[in-house]
Amino acid sequence: MAKKRIAVFISGRGSNFMFIHGEIEKGNIHGEIVVLISDNPDAGGLAYAGEKGIECRVFPWQVPRDRYFQDLMDFLEGKDIDLIVLAGFMRVLSANIIERYANRILNIHPALLPSFPGEEAQRQAFDHGVKFSGCTVHFVDGGVDTGPIIQQRVVPVLEDDDTETLAARILEQEHQLFPEVVRAFCNNQLEVVGRRVHVRE
Ligand code: GAR
Repeated sequence: MAKKRIAVFISGRGSNFMFIHGEIEKGNIHGEIVVLISDNPDAGGLAYAGEKGIECRVFPWQVPRDRYFQDLMDFLEGKDIDLIVLAGFMRVLSANIIERYANRILNIHPALLPSFPGEEAQRQAFDHGVKFSGCTVHFVDGGVDTGPIIQQRVVPVLEDDDTETLAARILEQEHQLFPEVVRAFCNNQLEVVGRRVHVRE
């Protein structure tokens, strides 16, 4: 089985990207990050990718959205990409890229979906007063954080938590969960049946 060719999209720090790459380096994921794409020239993950010899492309954010993602797709076509990984990419993808890569785009979200979609999910959950939050990896569909859920990790909200401490413990779980799901994808273990995603042994 050929290694999956992966494009990772980031907007900022890029810690999830680094953890996924770390697992690839250890030989735990049957895939290769072919390109790192960022809408933000100052994204932290770009320097790490440069050090690791991963091709980086900055596509500075522009409207209209459809045009932006068409340019991005034209670029990706030449790279023969099997999987797009949204690792803290803070833009809503356009319909054309979602259709082109149906069931081949993964996103991580720092809450237990379908609760608290959208921005500042950790703060939304904390302010709502939930006792448990966590993170979710899902396939991307046309909505905001609405696609079929692949896997989740639960994180308890502690008595002395604030948004930052909760977010930090959620992030620790993200760093474990996302590489696991990428690994399963690259092993062809994910099967989508309607809204349900089965992880085959
Ligand atoms: C992560 O917490 C990720 O779940 C979140 O952005 C952060 C990126 O961190 N994504 C979203 O909120 C998407 N709606 P990172 O750049 O260090 O990986």
